[in-house]
Amino acid sequence: MKRIGVLTSGGDAPGMNAAIRSTVRCAAHRGLEIRGIMRGYEGLIKNEVINMDDPRSVSNILSRGGTILKTARSEEFMTKTGRKKAFETVKNNGIDGLVIIGGNGSFTGAHIFWREFKVPSIGVPATIDNDISGSDYAIGSHTAVNTALDAIDKIRDTVTSMERIYVVEVMGREDPFIAIRVGLAGGAEEVVFPYMKYDIGRICKEIKKGREKGKVSWIIVVAEGAGKAPDVVKDIKKKTGFSSRAVVLGHIQRGGTPAAVDRILASVLGAAAVEALTAGKTDSMVGVVSNEPKTTPYEIAIKEDRKNVRTDQRLYNLTKILAK
Ligand code: F6P
Repeated sequence: MKRIGVLTSGGDAPGMNAAIRSTVRCAAHRGLEIRGIMRGYEGLIKNEVINMDDPRSVSNILSRGGTILKTARSEEFMTKTGRKKAFETVKNNGIDGLVIIGGNGSFTGAHIFWREFKVPSIGVPATIDNDISGSDYAIGSHTAVNTALDAIDKIRDTVTSMERIYVVEVMGREDPFIAIRVGLAGGAEEVVFPYMKYDIGRICKEIKKGREKGKVSWIIVVAEGAGKAPDVVKDIKKKTGFSSRAVVLGHIQRGGTPAAVDRILASVLGAAAVEALTAGKTDSMVGVVSNEPKTTPYEIAIKEDRKNVRTDQRLYNLTKILAK
């Protein structure tokens, strides 16, 4: 292995830059040449390749959100013709292996790319959803929780002052990682999340009972995979007559300065990816399980993740006990 390429793909996550930095500098430390590919698989298809041999090419990015390499969800890479073009780029640039920083979709692409064209790659999990098997955490997920929590703390001020009910929708696709954690940390009265029955009847009964006892402020966190905040607002109105407000936090959860945990994880995983590639590993992702770096085949990493079900349930139960 003489020259490696690095790209970021899919939804950006805070800490991706820290992972690029670690990959570039660890590669340089091992005497490898390194190329950056712009816009994920799109740049691979269109031959958008930059030289990153100089370790200073990644100066001053450690604390920056987003990704200096840009990112995209490439539809063309989902076609064989697109992947063929991407392979030409890999070949013409003399790239011997790739570090793919991204999530499920990116690893699915990398797996197919390996099967069809034998391009070695190692994935680095980076997604705010934290929905990847084979790593306790994905880069960006902690920062996203902190960002959502900051918003919820602010919403709490107006909730308390106006004695209202707020329904706050957070990101995370089918995974309730963000919802459950901001629910507990933000003192939410309720969390609606995938694989929990959406029992609006029970929630409305609790709201009414609370009002009778003088509890007037409510924050209900809804995981995007479980429903839409405006729909919950309508359901509450229908069943209780109370009006509430919907807040969809949206893409702010993807931005911002990466938290220390995410920078550390990104630094560790960038290094682990370079090590794995140079050791001849491929078709796999590097993650951290119980604080130890671990390699997991893409095929397992991209399987629907249910690693946190028990923890999620436990944290939810505690949230309910603590909400008085
Ligand atoms: O996967 C990260 C994520 O932010 C999800 O939480 C969300 O459902 C999705 O990406 C939004 O994607 P886009 O930015 O393409 O709208």
